[in-house]
Amino acid sequence: MLEQLYPIKDENVLVGFSHADDAGVYRLSDDTAVVLTVDFFTPVVDDPYMFGAIAASNSLSDIYAMGGRPVVALNLAAFPKEAEFHPFIEEIVRGGVEKMAEAGVSIIGGHTLKDREPKFGFAVMGLIHPDKILDNSKARSGDALILTKPLGTGIISTGLMSDVSSQASIEEFTKSMAALNRRASEIMLEIGISTATDITGFGLIGHLLEVLNASNLRARLHSARVPRFKEVERLFGMGKIPGGTMENVRNFDSYVEWDKAVGTVERILMHDAQTSGGLLIFVPSGKKERLVDSLKKDDMLAAHIGDVIEAAPGKRVIVER
Ligand code: CO
Ligand code: CO
Repeated sequence: MLEQLYPIKDENVLVGFSHADDAGVYRLSDDTAVVLTVDFFTPVVDDPYMFGAIAASNSLSDIYAMGGRPVVALNLAAFPKEAEFHPFIEEIVRGGVEKMAEAGVSIIGGHTLKDREPKFGFAVMGLIHPDKILDNSKARSGDALILTKPLGTGIISTGLMSDVSSQASIEEFTKSMAALNRRASEIMLEIGISTATDITGFGLIGHLLEVLNASNLRARLHSARVPRFKEVERLFGMGKIPGGTMENVRNFDSYVEWDKAVGTVERILMHDAQTSGGLLIFVPSGKKERLVDSLKKDDMLAAHIGDVIEAAPGKRVIVER
């Protein structure tokens, strides 16, 4: 919508909104460009410290997915004015600040509003070489698709809101959302990949489609290989499906050819709206093994969930069991 209202004429804008990329990129000189992104949201977990940490980790993710190095951030926050909320503010901010410190990012300013519903996040600036931007148009036929975090944060948090998610699963998904995609990004850059994106609100299918559309390619996925949090099946059985996930089903399901053997849980899971999800890395098949081994050696998940294939008539994504 923005693009129609305000077409970009500046040739130093290397990545705008035209390909639904993770972050915008602006060239400063022949060897330096800045990567910019912003993200903030309402609490996804009850623990205020972890909410702050997750918001920080999530806001950095688009920079890591573009192949950039985040350097500075501005905090965006909205908090209730009531005095009894003040201790929570301190904890949320501490979680955000410590996560940014872990990432080596300096917070150099911010802005806070009063609002009944708390919101927290960051605008982040990173640096990148103008020739090394991992944008959505760079996928190649034959690339293996590697996912670095399990899916299901939307389903688990919907269960959490109605108090039916177990403590173990809350801990599992909180830890996953707070984990930086930094190391995964460094490893993929060392090895050399085609491109990458991070999995957030549009779910695995939605974010995969953004890359496939921009690269004019298709993909074949295997639903049984898609990693998920332990309690996804049980909570799905209780109908704990977030509104954002159902919206993704409405928006993206018609681009997918589902094999009959793929179960409904897996189908919804692959559309589940994620908060601070992992990277989806498009790696040439010859480098796949090295990438998977390196990620696992650093204690990260590295699930080979499918492959990119040539454009052809038919749906963009094929999902087999
Ligand atoms: Co993104
Ligand atoms: Co984003």
